[in-house]
Amino acid sequence: MSSRPGVFPVSDEWKWRAWLDERGYREAYQRSITDPQGFWSEQAASLSWFTAPRKTRDVSFEPGEIRIHWFEDGVLNASVNCLDRHLHDGSRAAIIWEGDDPSESRTLSYAELHAQVCRLANGLRSLGVGKGDRVTIYLPMVPEAAVAMLACARIGAIHSVVFAGFSPESLAGRIQDCESRVLITADEGVRGGRRLPMKANVDEALRHCPQVSTCVVLRRTGGEVGWTEGRDLWYDELVARQAPACEPEPMGAEDPLFILYTSGSTGKPKGVQHSTGGYLLAASLTHKYVLDYHAEDVFWCTADVGWVTGHSYIVYGPLANGATTVMFEGVPGYPDSGRFWQIIDKHRVSIFYTSPTAIRSLIRDGEAPVRRSSRASLRLLGTVGEPINPEAWRWYYEVVGERRCPIVDTWWQTETGAIVIAPLPGATATKPGSATLPFFGVEPVIVDEHGRILEGACEGMLCLRQGGPGMLRTIYRDPARFVRAYFDAYPGLYFTGDGARRDEDGYYWITGRVDDVINVSGHRLGTVEIESALAAHPEVVEAAVVGYPHDVKGQGVYAYVTLKTHVRPTAALREELVRRVRRQIGPIAAPDAIQWAPALPKTRSGKILRRMLRKIAANEAADLGDTSTLADSSVLDGLIQGRREAATVALAERV
Ligand code: PRX
Repeated sequence: MSSRPGVFPVSDEWKWRAWLDERGYREAYQRSITDPQGFWSEQAASLSWFTAPRKTRDVSFEPGEIRIHWFEDGVLNASVNCLDRHLHDGSRAAIIWEGDDPSESRTLSYAELHAQVCRLANGLRSLGVGKGDRVTIYLPMVPEAAVAMLACARIGAIHSVVFAGFSPESLAGRIQDCESRVLITADEGVRGGRRLPMKANVDEALRHCPQVSTCVVLRRTGGEVGWTEGRDLWYDELVARQAPACEPEPMGAEDPLFILYTSGSTGKPKGVQHSTGGYLLAASLTHKYVLDYHAEDVFWCTADVGWVTGHSYIVYGPLANGATTVMFEGVPGYPDSGRFWQIIDKHRVSIFYTSPTAIRSLIRDGEAPVRRSSRASLRLLGTVGEPINPEAWRWYYEVVGERRCPIVDTWWQTETGAIVIAPLPGATATKPGSATLPFFGVEPVIVDEHGRILEGACEGMLCLRQGGPGMLRTIYRDPARFVRAYFDAYPGLYFTGDGARRDEDGYYWITGRVDDVINVSGHRLGTVEIESALAAHPEVVEAAVVGYPHDVKGQGVYAYVTLKTHVRPTAALREELVRRVRRQIGPIAAPDAIQWAPALPKTRSGKILRRMLRKIAANEAADLGDTSTLADSSVLDGLIQGRREAATVALAERV
């Protein structure tokens, strides 16, 4: 395969420098499938257990008996794995924090991080937080976000991190769903030179969350904040009183480590629940093999801790492996578009893991900002979160990595907890745009619309017959939804919600979501949530939201809005609707385009035909397919005409 056009073979240097070469990968993968018990009991030994597990995989996706249990009789603590076991070399850098302002950075050694985590863990215990209690974390990208997660893990509390860009309403919904009594936040966040009103958002959210008894507030900027006596507590005052050592809570491998809310195709966001043992093993193993972590590396994942990528590859995976992990508070374009590359030089980053959206946003500014840096420390590049278009892949490979650094395109989801389809840099020849082959223990399957499993080269819906130890265990307090969302569509299989193609080499090419979820800048949004925000406006009758191709974000948010008959469609109303979505969900969900739609295409039973709306938004109206199911096909002509005329671009930036 290596000499074929469009295929990037593994270099000789990488064959020996990486943990595994091609043969090594094939053997390990085969063994993980044919002898899962033997394979996983060996892998489990890479974690530090209070009681080593004798059980390994106990998984069934069969109807009526969905069960995902791993290492069930093992006992461990995630914070011990991420901290205590590295204290023999306690001065080693655990977190290198780079502030939004280039003059600010901080390094926390493993010893310092351990002490900070223990102090906060003791502080949380003093507030009455214990095993199984939920703690919501709403923090900007500061080391204390990792400290807070690990402090929860230390005492067995289940953390629910909410991305700092979510609105008060979204935050309140997530706090209510998991019924946390304690919240950890900051006075303000800082991003791209601007301040984010975190505590003010929290104050608004907590008006709807009377069960929250304590709000711990970190001083990030020292800005003015509102204060509720008896409820609010400064972080520094809480930890100052505490000892720098804290007895870790022994946790069963299946005890929950965290909940992370993510959008689905229906209803409110789902609380995806992850386990302690299986999750930690999946995060650390993939960090080691896919991101090829070695002891001398400086690892940087540019995600936010509010998303699963930040959980697995800023915090748990790297720290479990004793790595030095970089955490960046800012954005790629601030103060200028050379910032990523300056940080790579400043901290001698060797493994760099980012999103296709970040790459595309930097391509716009050309090669000069990249060329001004040396990037001599870089050896491996990774991408995550959305399909990478081959042009962006090539730019990343040629300009950023100077053809020296392999690219690992990693496919996974909040639900899988860790990477499940990706190349190993010493083993897998890559093809731009393909996430390539499954990781150990993962068995991907492609099915057609009738649920028939397809063999060989094919295209269809991507399912997993086995997903690895990092798979979600349930939807928090909603096991019925867990089954409905993932296991009802194709009995015996976990349905990912993605479409995929498998080529003649067995490589997987993810084609994107096939459900009502869109992926904007690598962030997952439920179209239904955005539609409800729009439809709640008093002048709106209904709204339909679809994704459409967007040069930088991959997909943009395209909203068709039907107004009440007497209402005039004005630019001011359009901006008000965008503001409403920002307020209700958060800026990431703001529509990029709003088209006034006198009517929406529906079936006779009233179901909106989104497939057609997607085509129109993508300017592919010539190819609308079968329109015979439409109740009134004249609606389409109006919409196609409206698409041409729609002054709909770049709204989100202006409002
Ligand atoms: O559609 C796939 C896309 O992101 C979805 C998962 O989103 P989320 O749970 O927010 O997690 C994102 C970070 C892991 C998937 O269903 N996706 C993720 N990685 C890739 C991708 N699509 C194509 N290629 C990828 N490498």
